[in-house]
Amino acid sequence: MAKTTDVFKNEIFKGKVLLCSGGGSGICRAMTEAVVRHGGKAVIISRSFDKLEKAAKEMSEATGGEVIPIQADVRKPADVENAVSKTVEKFGKIDFLINGAAGNFLAPFQKLSYNAFRTVVEIDLLGSFNLTKAASEHLKASKGSIINVSMTLHYTGSPYQQHAGAAKAGIDALTKHWAVELGPFGVRVNGIAPGPIVDTVGLDKLARSGASYETIPLGRAGSVTDIAQSTVFLFSDAAEWISGHMLVVDGAHWLTHYTPGYPGIVLNPPSKL
Ligand code: HXC
Repeated sequence: MAKTTDVFKNEIFKGKVLLCSGGGSGICRAMTEAVVRHGGKAVIISRSFDKLEKAAKEMSEATGGEVIPIQADVRKPADVENAVSKTVEKFGKIDFLINGAAGNFLAPFQKLSYNAFRTVVEIDLLGSFNLTKAASEHLKASKGSIINVSMTLHYTGSPYQQHAGAAKAGIDALTKHWAVELGPFGVRVNGIAPGPIVDTVGLDKLARSGASYETIPLGRAGSVTDIAQSTVFLFSDAAEWISGHMLVVDGAHWLTHYTPGYPGIVLNPPSKL
């Protein structure tokens, strides 16, 4: 990934501690790496310890900073409480929290089972609640900052995405509720809504092969670096009076989502489902 230090000062997060769910891959890994590149330390959590361990090692080597993997399923309160305790044992506090763990797939209404809908809502929405609840006292103590990772597909009625859309709409709501309730404790709560980001599991799952990005007004798909730079901005003191905001980082893509026949770039045509 491109160095966010090209844009931001090197050590703005020196002494800061990040806890990031979903930090073992894709967007959240880049968000974590950006914080560590700027002097922070990080704990990444997800279900797959092998993937996490590899990512943590690679990020530590790439940045010279400390990244620790802890296995946790965000759907399980006991797991996230354990992850929070271990983070505080290791680093003494938590300054930044990223709620990034997510699951997704394309599924038309008739093929979306009860369990499939519930699974995505449990990972994305309940998982964000669980981790934030577990970490909230530490975030208050540090006057910390939260970033919730959302998306833009629920801004319109994107087909085959009601499970993820409902979950992310809930996350957007939590961003506002937490900003109001945690603001008096000095905690800022914001979100990032990425558009199509290349080389991520999400886009691989949702994009049709040969997708064109010409409909994105800024003329290209996003990269994980685009999200990393926004993360550095939102966690930085430059954003000290920004809370309750969902920052859309998508080259103005969502404004072009709907066209007849669903040829949006993040959708497979119905015939392939
Ligand atoms: C229909 C599906 C399905 C599919 C799974 N299910 N995949 N239904 N179409 N493609 C159903 C299963 O049949 C099952 O229901 C239920 O979902 C739970 O599936 P499990 O595999 O048992 O659950 P689990 O192991 O917890 O896996 C969760 C998962 C999985 C979401 C299904 O894909 C996953 O863990 N993914 C993590 C990585 C990921 O998806 N990242 C992308 C995030 S992208 P039944 O009824 O059979 O029991 C994102 C934003 C993208 O969030 C925005 C881009 C612009």
